[in-house]
Amino acid sequence: MKKLRIEVCSGSECVMMGSMDIIEAIEGLKQVKQQLKLRAQIEIVPCKCLGPCKNENLAPVVRINDELITQATGDIVMSKIIAAIKD
Ligand code: FES
Repeated sequence: MKKLRIEVCSGSECVMMGSMDIIEAIEGLKQVKQQLKLRAQIEIVPCKCLGPCKNENLAPVVRINDELITQATGDIVMSKIIAAIKD
């Protein structure tokens, strides 16, 4: 079974830009993954500022395993998660 560690930045800049909505979207996916027959262990980890927001307008920021996603949206994160599970 695949394991995905999803770090969602909970720093102020990312929260202002919607990181809490991304966490809700991921929680929703966890609830329906059995119906979608997705076999994976998904761990959601709210974390402190990951850094990219300091220099440019890149918030919100999410890291899935080692891949950093800037200007993340729920749709982008969901598609990355599903692609990672199906690999
Ligand atoms: S607050 Fe999220 S990267 Fe800085």
